[in-house]
Amino acid sequence: MNDEPSKARCRNGHSSKSERSEVAPINRLKKFNGFKKLSVANGKIPARDNGRSEKLVLITGGAGFIGTNLADRLLEQGERVLIFDNLSRAGVEQNLKWLQEKHRKRLQFQRASVLDRVALGKAVAKASHVFHFAAQVAVTTSLDNPIEDFEINARGTLNLLEAVRAQAVPPSLIFTSTNKVYGDLSEVKLRANNGRYEPVDPTLRESGFNEARALAFHSPYGCSKGAACQYVLDYARTFGLRTAVFRMSCIYGPHQFGTEDQGWVAHFLIKALNGAPITIYGDGQQVRDILFVEDLVDAFLLARRNIQKISGHAFNIGGGPQNTISLLELLKFIKEIRGEAMTADFSDWRTADQKYYVSNTEKFRAQTGWSPKVGAREGISKLYYWLQEFGPVRRKLTARSESLEGHSVTA
Ligand SMILES: NC(=O)c1ccc[n+]([C@@H]2O[C@H](COP(=O)([O-])OP(=O)(O)OC[C@H]3O[C@@H](n4cnc5c(N)ncnc54)[C@H](O)[C@@H]3O)[C@@H](O)[C@H]2O)c1
Repeated sequence: MNDEPSKARCRNGHSSKSERSEVAPINRLKKFNGFKKLSVANGKIPARDNGRSEKLVLITGGAGFIGTNLADRLLEQGERVLIFDNLSRAGVEQNLKWLQEKHRKRLQFQRASVLDRVALGKAVAKASHVFHFAAQVAVTTSLDNPIEDFEINARGTLNLLEAVRAQAVPPSLIFTSTNKVYGDLSEVKLRANNGRYEPVDPTLRESGFNEARALAFHSPYGCSKGAACQYVLDYARTFGLRTAVFRMSCIYGPHQFGTEDQGWVAHFLIKALNGAPITIYGDGQQVRDILFVEDLVDAFLLARRNIQKISGHAFNIGGGPQNTISLLELLKFIKEIRGEAMTADFSDWRTADQKYYVSNTEKFRAQTGWSPKVGAREGISKLYYWLQEFGPVRRKLTARSESLEGHSVTA
């Protein structure tokens, strides 16, 4: 919790004329904040700070794939970043080391869990904006251990929201949810067309799923992320916090340690580079829209800049209808890149798997002007060559630890 008085806030860069002119009332905050009395200059909170104040940008789960890419961009832009991560995901300490070597002092790191409310409170007190990525990220693992999944994803998010609400000047927050909140979509009529599924409905085929789709949490992971997503939206509605949610499809790109459980594009490429066979669950005709991580980082920056406008809203974020691919098509493309086919085994469908999911990103585009720039073929090729050079693959091939341009490949 933060006990700094309002004057200290003003000294922290929230009192310039331009910032004062864009403010939001905090009456609702005052009414509902049970933690302590708020004392904010003029009874207002700054509408936006563009992250340029003396405070830091906090990224929970910031050593992970998406967090590393976002932190790198923010640090390159001269901002100060605090990564809050318990490093529970295998390999992510390599991302952290890479960021630390590249950016040194402007990057701070706190090793802690989102279940540690005291640590979380201290981190949030330093932040002008929060990107909340820390999570149990896989449906498969949530089936093995639903309670841990709930704790990290639902309770961890609630802990964070409470820490944000306790601040005299609550930082804005963007949360990464998932398309899994829409369920397995088995109610959507599909047909197979040349190695891929597609909706029979032409509008869905052309535009994808928008946010009006009914929520239907499937799998413990779908439930825990869905619950967290609802809390994040409700804290904007009920407490007046500045929060927004991205319901994301498949994100891929450098610094991704894809496994069979999560990060399938990277997982396929790592297997291909290792010359190992791949298991396809289902018939391989399932389709996703994939989004290159640099495009996602653009979307995060736009969301933060427009937080006043988009607060309280959820947005479907993915590569959209222009960037769809089926598992079988990815196998074909890998063959094109390598000149050699991968061996694939087929196994039963996985619980709650969607046969077709493509994001309709129109709502976010209309609010911010965002659209993806990196096409699927270009992005997959970039990831392939990045993994070849820096990923866990190379270590296997060379069978020794080494450091390439500051990126340790001992994962
Ligand atoms: N990558 C995708 O395709 C995708 C799609 C939809 C949603 N998401 C969401 O985006 C976010 C980031 O995903 P990612 O792909 O970068 O995953 P990631 O696993 O690479 O990163 C998650 C990070 O959270 C950390 N973490 C896990 N439990 C923690 C805890 N209790 N306390 C603190 N840190 C903890 C991990 O160590 C890891 O560094 C997640 O919330 C995920 O659910 C990702």
